[in-house]
Amino acid sequence: MFYEPGKTAHGLPHDPFKSCVIPRPIGWISTVDGEGRHNLAPFSQFQNVTFDPPIVLFCANQDSSGRRKDSVRNAEQTGEFVWNMATWDLREAVNISAQEVPADVDEFELAGLEKAPSRLVKPMRVKASPIHFECVYLNTLRFPGNGKMGSADVVFGRVVAVHIADEVLDARGLVDVLKIRPIARMGYYDYTSVDSQFSMVIPGNQSALLGGLEGSADKVQRATAAEAAVTGGSAP
Ligand SMILES: Cc1cc2nc3c(=O)[nH]c(=O)nc-3n(C[C@H](O)[C@H](O)[C@H](O)COP(=O)(O)O)c2cc1C
Repeated sequence: MFYEPGKTAHGLPHDPFKSCVIPRPIGWISTVDGEGRHNLAPFSQFQNVTFDPPIVLFCANQDSSGRRKDSVRNAEQTGEFVWNMATWDLREAVNISAQEVPADVDEFELAGLEKAPSRLVKPMRVKASPIHFECVYLNTLRFPGNGKMGSADVVFGRVVAVHIADEVLDARGLVDVLKIRPIARMGYYDYTSVDSQFSMVIPGNQSALLGGLEGSADKVQRATAAEAAVTGGSAP
């Protein structure tokens, strides 16, 4: 089948678009507004953008009444947000925290979640989540769209602190993803969780490239410095 979004009909009983970009990690974003009211909501339009320095984004469509979402307004207002990892064990709480509720409703309380203070920023962390990023707001890219919900705000933030619970680090110091079992969004009302993994290394043994694949700022810097020493150039 073939269709042109917004131009020709897909002809299927359900829109297939979101099912084609899968699985999407969940940005479970906590914020606080200028009056100290706490907010928590999941966004599957979430990604890391780069690693040195680490930057993440979440993208929020407007809500059903055409308002920009609390998470966006709070991040812009206070300049901070926190990413919490959404796991299989926390799936019901993730879902509950997605409800469209007034700004004075604290979704931590709604979902029965305990808060943990952050170290560098004001938004709270989901205590039961094994990994958190404390983020400083960078900017918002706004995409006008159709109808009340079509317009979207892409919020970028720099990760200034990372928390990883010791019990999800394995004996080699690697994040034990299969123990955490992160959940991710598929299309429709479907989700998946990570319960298998495999490894591949780009052929060619290029240290900087492999450091980038791993997302290791140290290894990339060491590799580019070593290359500069060999070629007589200066490391960037
Ligand atoms: C797993 C999951 C993923 C979601 N992803 C998004 C998303 O990427 N963008 C979005 O605008 N809303 C998304 N939602 C809906 C928001 O979580 C929901 O609109 C929430 O009420 C926003 O809260 P806020 O106004 O407090 O920011 C998602 C909901 C769920 C359950």
